[in-house]
Amino acid sequence: MTRQLFVTTALPYANGNFHIGHIMEYIQADIWVRFQKMMGRPVDFVCADDTHGAPIMIAAEKAGVTPQQFVAGIAAGRKQYLDGFHIGFDNWHSTDGPENHELARQIYRDLRDNPEGSLIETRVIEQFFDPEKNMFLPDRFIKGECPKCHAKDQYGDNCEVCGTVYAPTDLINPYSALSGVKPELKSSEHFFFKLSDPRCVAFLENWTQDGKLQPEVANKIKEWFTVRTNPDGSTSEGLGDWDISRDAPYFGIEIPDAPGKYFYVWLDAPIGYLASLKNLCTQRGMDYDAYMANPELKQYHFIGKDIVTFHTLFWPATLHFSGRKTPDNVFVHGFLTVHNGEKMSKSRGTGLDPLKYLSLGMNPEWLRYYLAAKLSARNEDIDFNADDFMSRVNSDLIGKFVNIASRAAGFLSKRFDGKLGVVPEDGAALLHQLRIERTSIEMMYEGREYAKALRETMLLADRVNAYVDANKPWDLAKQAGQEARLQGVCTVCIKAFRVLTCYLKPVLPELARQVETFLKIEPLSFANIGEPLDAGHVIGTYQHLMQRVDVKQLEALFEPPALIEPAQTATTTVADTKPGGEDIAPTISIEDFARIDLRIAKIVACQAVAGSTKLLQLTLDVGETDDAGQPKTRNVFSGIASCYQPEQLAGKLTVLVANLAPRKMKFGISDGMVLAASHADEKAQPGIYVLEPSAGARPGMRIH
Ligand code: MSP
Ligand code: ZN
Repeated sequence: MTRQLFVTTALPYANGNFHIGHIMEYIQADIWVRFQKMMGRPVDFVCADDTHGAPIMIAAEKAGVTPQQFVAGIAAGRKQYLDGFHIGFDNWHSTDGPENHELARQIYRDLRDNPEGSLIETRVIEQFFDPEKNMFLPDRFIKGECPKCHAKDQYGDNCEVCGTVYAPTDLINPYSALSGVKPELKSSEHFFFKLSDPRCVAFLENWTQDGKLQPEVANKIKEWFTVRTNPDGSTSEGLGDWDISRDAPYFGIEIPDAPGKYFYVWLDAPIGYLASLKNLCTQRGMDYDAYMANPELKQYHFIGKDIVTFHTLFWPATLHFSGRKTPDNVFVHGFLTVHNGEKMSKSRGTGLDPLKYLSLGMNPEWLRYYLAAKLSARNEDIDFNADDFMSRVNSDLIGKFVNIASRAAGFLSKRFDGKLGVVPEDGAALLHQLRIERTSIEMMYEGREYAKALRETMLLADRVNAYVDANKPWDLAKQAGQEARLQGVCTVCIKAFRVLTCYLKPVLPELARQVETFLKIEPLSFANIGEPLDAGHVIGTYQHLMQRVDVKQLEALFEPPALIEPAQTATTTVADTKPGGEDIAPTISIEDFARIDLRIAKIVACQAVAGSTKLLQLTLDVGETDDAGQPKTRNVFSGIASCYQPEQLAGKLTVLVANLAPRKMKFGISDGMVLAASHADEKAQPGIYVLEPSAGARPGMRIH
């Protein structure tokens, strides 16, 4: 059996688009995976949308769509981010897929029927219930007055004003954030995972403290075995049991033999890792059970510091006591903050919009390089700083590394038809120095010490540049009889550039691909780094490999979007001679009009478009179904990004030209056109106004 790696990143909630924190996590994991692949190790790298839970159910209801439609809209927007930043997942799935439903139910049964004694227990608990919405309220949907500082409108779990932690029942004058009514206390039977069971405690004490976890993470976990904080802020001894059920209505997976009871989202979410892998196996015609039974299988999860409990207590316990393989490690990273420590909201991720970054034509590998230059194996926050970003990319990445190629390639192609020459002795020594660092750089990548790996690589680049400065190819080019020397020096540069490119390839996969084409070489890997490029090998013509960051791009990136509020109409001083700036079009017959099929459409989801500052991508529900009778949505691009933020439109109704011939655009096919009003002279009277029907109209209705 060969060693097989199974790598995941945390499954993002399907209640919003990616923010820069997500992208950071994916880049960190992607670098590691690319490194492993370059070492010739088989890796499967998967993720999925985390779709279940009350917040998503409520958000869908607000948008007037089913939770399934809601999460489908979010899923449709994922690809442009992942492709845009060269994040190479082998599969992206959903926790609402059939694999996850089946796996979660089976794992639960295995926990319940554990031959050494069940790990599941039921207990009746009291919880706030919204009598109008007819549902139990999650803590976050109960608000009221803080019992300590008496601040109004505080959430049910803690006060944002004084920071006190309490139970929702401690709130003064509590009300439901969904309906505004006073919640009632109601009892209900809940299912618990017996984390306090001595078998569980013993297993977890060993699993978390056997040296695999990062030391700072293991130390933090140690405290949880001695004290724990209760919902009311008091503390108790040791691990508490874990409430894994929620009552209907809930968007989730129904618990076997318990009608109306659903798994709490955090029970089925990590199982989604396995579900995504299983789905990948099916796509490849592979046997999932055999895959998991491989004793050489290594399972690794990349996660952020806020979800450590779930991944180091609940998840390994769930797997172990259901008779399954536990993770080989969990790699925890800190949070990315944007702009010198200014706090970034977890859900909104303010500061740096990844799609805007791409739309501005900023190179995704700048960000990959910059983040890698800051990432270590430690669970530490890192800060995005615009000045630092610019200097690392321009001075280090381009100034030190990319320039090596441009310094040498011109002479080779102009003077020697691109042919490499013989390496002079001093050059051979330099190349040797570069190559012997391979093992230590490999170890740095393996240990997720990317900042160190890049620092080391840049030191090597410094040596190459010193070699160029000492040998001055531009002088050699002017001297008679120095041809062989000039060709030799440039050959050293190209060979050195090849080695450095290999060292940077996990971080800069696209640049490495361009270099491979330019040098006309096989894909670089750590194993083939020692292979020589023989004298006589002909390289291609050098084309500029990477632009420098322009400060204007950074300014634009952080400039708040210029929003024209739909309500704020431009006032004109000169009276319009023509309505809306243009003459009324020639008369048509009613038959002419009837050829245009206008329909009410619901904007199920709305996203920015990577690579375009003008377009928004709309996912529309026009009441259509596919051949299997399943609801079907349409994809439409609309040039309204200058006037609308995606979240202003999601959930709204509008009017669609439903029988317009589909148009192929750079970003995909646009299947119809959304109606919007604007003045003929867009410069003088800016503003675009999307049409919205009166209340009561429903998707699919025709406009006559
Ligand atoms: N859905 C859960 C995870 C379930 S895993 C079985 C969740 N989703 S999340 O969308 O809120 O977060 C996804 C990942 O992004 C987490 O690992 C989280 O730590 C990470 N990040 C969220 N904000 C972040 C930053 N500002 N910086 C870096 N990573 C951050 O939690
Ligand atoms: Zn308070």
